[in-house]
Amino acid sequence: MIVGLSADGTYLSSDINAVSRVATEFVTLEDHEIVRIISGKYTILSYGKEVNKVSEKITSEFQTAHKGDYETFTEKEIHEIPEVFRNAFTGRLNFETQTITNETLDALSDQEIDRIEIIASGSSYFAGMVGTSWFKEIAGIPADVRISSEFLYDTFLPSKKTLYIFMSQSGETADVRESLKMVKEKGCLTFGIVNVVGSTIARMCDMGLYTHSGVEVGVASTKNIIGQLSVLILMAISLGLKRELQMKDARELIRHLGELPEKFQKQLNNKHLLAPIIEKYSAFTNFFFLGRNLLYGTAQECSLKLKELTYIHAECYSSGELKHGPLALINSKMPSVVLNLKGVLREKTNSNIKEIKARNGIVLGVVTEGEQHQKDLYDDVIEVPTCHPLLSPFFPVTPLWLVAVGIAKKLGRDIDKPQNLAKSVTVE
Ligand code: AGP
Repeated sequence: MIVGLSADGTYLSSDINAVSRVATEFVTLEDHEIVRIISGKYTILSYGKEVNKVSEKITSEFQTAHKGDYETFTEKEIHEIPEVFRNAFTGRLNFETQTITNETLDALSDQEIDRIEIIASGSSYFAGMVGTSWFKEIAGIPADVRISSEFLYDTFLPSKKTLYIFMSQSGETADVRESLKMVKEKGCLTFGIVNVVGSTIARMCDMGLYTHSGVEVGVASTKNIIGQLSVLILMAISLGLKRELQMKDARELIRHLGELPEKFQKQLNNKHLLAPIIEKYSAFTNFFFLGRNLLYGTAQECSLKLKELTYIHAECYSSGELKHGPLALINSKMPSVVLNLKGVLREKTNSNIKEIKARNGIVLGVVTEGEQHQKDLYDDVIEVPTCHPLLSPFFPVTPLWLVAVGIAKKLGRDIDKPQNLAKSVTVE
């Protein structure tokens, strides 16, 4: 809970951003603390005793975002992706010298870690899916990701050599916060990847790196996912260099990472190419999203985004899983959006696509530009820039988020505040 303070009022909120327009300072309430406000004056009580707490300034980072030239915050935030990516690495990774300099990462590398568990919800969980692949592939550390509301009520077998990473844009999600409390009570090492500075989860973790994505107003998270992926791959490279990752391989990956902002910008500049896709696919009421391996988490996120923004039913499967039942749903009225980039099990995914086509299914392929695609494989394609295979998860989101926004607009949805949803879910 946040107590927002200003010369002409005292405000209560679950999220700093919500009071950033009216308050100039804020105080954060911890568990077992109560605030009493009488005639605009506030008192904080802890177990019945009055306590003094230092207020913190609401910095420019919290100042309310403005839509600028965009119709919605969500569109504006998607167009901030190149800047978000740069911010996540600023002061941490130097793309000129291809070196990582960061005290938190140095301290983390000194920890004895033999396993990583990522705990998160929603879009943050799907970003965590990608992160586990990078920790295994790049850092050589076993990793898995857990849905926080499941983790919280599962049998918890604490390990002092496991790094527990808590990912949350708002830093206030109740399921994540309560999971963090449970892990801390066992004395385990906790690490926060959070966007909102000073939020509960950020303050509770032993260590952490902010995504620095800036204020994200759109309820359906977009740009911060790029911030989360950026911090995750930065951590994987840093931890990997303390293990078996060769410097030459790290430098190659960093070189490719350095090309991303320009490639993201190219995707944004080409958004007009999505118009026929939006027109055609806005007519459907059910979708499959399919991805394998590194692209499975991204496919899940893009499926969630379509649901959130358009209220259209979409479900996501690992492409190889389709034949184990879901194939029964394939018909000409349920298109499959298949993430099939170069280097990520493409031949295997091609055979999955043929299974769909053989049953009159419609396939919208997300493919690597410049590749000679088997034309009969796809009904339509969205081309994304070439990239290092490990960086593939970064690329399908921008066009598919823009398609979701475009379809939502055609359907007259409230894009920034979709029905039934909240920006931070502060109750279990
Ligand atoms: C994302 O588009 C949704 N608004 C929702 O799934 C969100 O990702 C989830 O509630 C977790 O929020 P957090 O990242 O703030 O913890």
